[in-house]
Amino acid sequence: MRVAIVGATGAVGHELMQVLEQSQQRGSLKIDELQLYASPRSAGKTLPFGGQDLTVQVTPEGPIDADIVLASAGGSVSLALAHQWASEGAIVIDNSSAFRYDADVPLVVPEVNGPEALKHKGIIANPNCTTAIAVVAVAPIHRKYGVKRMIVSTYQATSGAGQKGMDELLTETHKVLHGQQASHQEFVHPIPFNVIPHIDAFQDNGYTKEEMKVAWETHKILGDDSIKVSCTAVRIPTLRTHSEAITLELEHPATPDEIRELLGSAPGVEVRDNPGGKLYPMPLTASGKYDVEVGRIRQSLVFDGGIDLFVAGDQLLKGAALNAVQIAEYLQE
Ligand code: HSE
Repeated sequence: MRVAIVGATGAVGHELMQVLEQSQQRGSLKIDELQLYASPRSAGKTLPFGGQDLTVQVTPEGPIDADIVLASAGGSVSLALAHQWASEGAIVIDNSSAFRYDADVPLVVPEVNGPEALKHKGIIANPNCTTAIAVVAVAPIHRKYGVKRMIVSTYQATSGAGQKGMDELLTETHKVLHGQQASHQEFVHPIPFNVIPHIDAFQDNGYTKEEMKVAWETHKILGDDSIKVSCTAVRIPTLRTHSEAITLELEHPATPDEIRELLGSAPGVEVRDNPGGKLYPMPLTASGKYDVEVGRIRQSLVFDGGIDLFVAGDQLLKGAALNAVQIAEYLQE
């Protein structure tokens, strides 16, 4: 398989290379050739892969001669070029939101709706990170007990704004600790020692686009737009793991033990739920992990037979690079 990464020098590009290398070593993906592309500013760098140093080329305006293009250079690059790459025969797995809501573009989390990937017409969308992390835990519950309403509060890491977001957290925190005032570029307000209930643009209904993506994309991935979804999306000063508190109203009542047992065998999930032993999902433990941690599973005090839980998933892995590579693995099977 010939694989190309567009946006190879960004934070997601960096993770894509690691995850591809691990997939190749496991024998899941057979990569005959890896091509790396980035903007003219970043082209020319060399990056190690499989014991070789690969040179990053400028993203071509024309065709890419690859079987799979992993696109993570942002929506404007994808909008301009993805259809052309696909028309030349490549399958584009796109990390931006440019095509996620197109009816003929599958939006795929392999553990949840893998077969959808096979219906592609050249482009497959990788979901919003917050949504991908949530549905790994919510989908098995929906299948068995039927989710009627889903209320999500997020605690989103700075990696959601890319490498520059993570860098801003570190440099601005350093400044504050040295008595200087923090400034901000990647976030709407200074991020050190702050939480910001504002990610992406506000919509007419008072929700942000990030919050609405959780509703839109949950519906599309679960194939059920009857679920009522409400989200409050908040940026917090962590590096790379998104955490989420989720409350579910269920069609058929479930107990916390039933949910623990169900999620214990769900793919992509690590149940981490022993409050007495101080064991629950956290960015500290979920960062760098493939599985989404799920814990604090308890009976809802609001919805009879409903469930409250807490999840933490690595935004750069399950929220981006890992999910994209898992889609490629699914296509190869
Ligand atoms: N929009 C997300 C965030 C990242 O800002 O955290 C990409 O899904």
